[in-house]
Amino acid sequence: MSADDLQLETKFTHMGRPPAGLGTPVSHPVTRASTLLFEKAEDLYRSDIRGYGRHGTAVHDALADLFTELEGGVGSLLYPSGVAALTGPILTIVKPGDHVLLTDSAYGPTRYFCQTFLKRYGVEMELYDPRIGSGISDLIRENTSLILLESPGSLTFEIQDLPAIAKSAKAKGVATLIDNTWSGGITLNPLQFGIDISVHAATKYFGGHSDVMYGAAVFGDEGLFIRAKLTAKQLGNASSPDDAYQILRGFRTVLPRFRQSEATALALAEWLMTRDEIQTVLHPAVTDHPDHDLWKRDFTGGACLFACVFKPLNEADVLKFIDNLKLFGIGYSYGGFESLAIHCDPQLKRSHADRLGGPLIRFACGLEAISDLKADIEQSLASVF
Ligand SMILES: Cc1ncc(COP(=O)(O)O)c(C=O)c1O
Repeated sequence: MSADDLQLETKFTHMGRPPAGLGTPVSHPVTRASTLLFEKAEDLYRSDIRGYGRHGTAVHDALADLFTELEGGVGSLLYPSGVAALTGPILTIVKPGDHVLLTDSAYGPTRYFCQTFLKRYGVEMELYDPRIGSGISDLIRENTSLILLESPGSLTFEIQDLPAIAKSAKAKGVATLIDNTWSGGITLNPLQFGIDISVHAATKYFGGHSDVMYGAAVFGDEGLFIRAKLTAKQLGNASSPDDAYQILRGFRTVLPRFRQSEATALALAEWLMTRDEIQTVLHPAVTDHPDHDLWKRDFTGGACLFACVFKPLNEADVLKFIDNLKLFGIGYSYGGFESLAIHCDPQLKRSHADRLGGPLIRFACGLEAISDLKADIEQSLASVF
């Protein structure tokens, strides 16, 4: 049986473990080190051995291999947070004088980084409509070096036409990077559509327990991988062996956790569609989502996270709805074992979209029973409508 023929469940169970032997542990032990000792002075300047703690450990190597396997890339780089996994590759690609295209639906800190940090370094960022598809060609300039994507978009869940955007970018020699955190790489493989870099906030599903920050970038292009590796080295983008261990541990159980919370999210989204208090459900797997067909074409499933536009409510009642939920914690993030809810309007910034017409509430589903989560939302809706 070739390793390539194995299913992801089997790969995530067996890959990245130490060779079996008498009394060997099932998982790589955590090695904490800054200094690594050499036997001989002549070995100090060898490039074929790991010479310093910042360059990783066996746990980091195993984890990077699993990310590469997840998405079928040529290699992966590890970062201390999801944001670092976005900014490291971006800084690899852009230079002063460049133009960058960013989806209007991008994660807030990505937008802020482009608008402030990149601007300071003479890089111009232009926001584009996430539903632009092949129309992106018209926005590509002589000096465009990078197109940033995110699908579904943060908070508003628009699906992007990845093959069309990748094709337009390739035709003009422009690199593409997608924030693939929502799908966990489990229900979307952007590299297969020609996207160059797929980034994960591994803080979410791979951490899985809301107690560790981490990031990874998976590369489909060898040249970009080598350049980004050098950037990471130059920026000192090392991650703690303890954190890498937690993420590798999370990989072992990510699929059943992901699938349970994915099923819960879809069940709740479909139920909320039937409720009078809800104006629109923003989940691409529900049939009346405007990008449902595109989602069906490119994704193999959903994820734990979706949002709803409620019928108009005053601000105090929006806060009351969130406060009255008993099982949904009030907190940013998703992909943990526990459910979370936030109201989104104070952070929603869009240049290419109409106003939503009601308050936007985001639900991140955890591993609780669907019936309990449904009852919780129902009682909180009753307290404000
Ligand atoms: C879509 C998306 N990308 C990136 C990040 C950033 O990840 P981290 O919090 O690990 O820096 C987040 C975190 O919420 C996110 O939701």
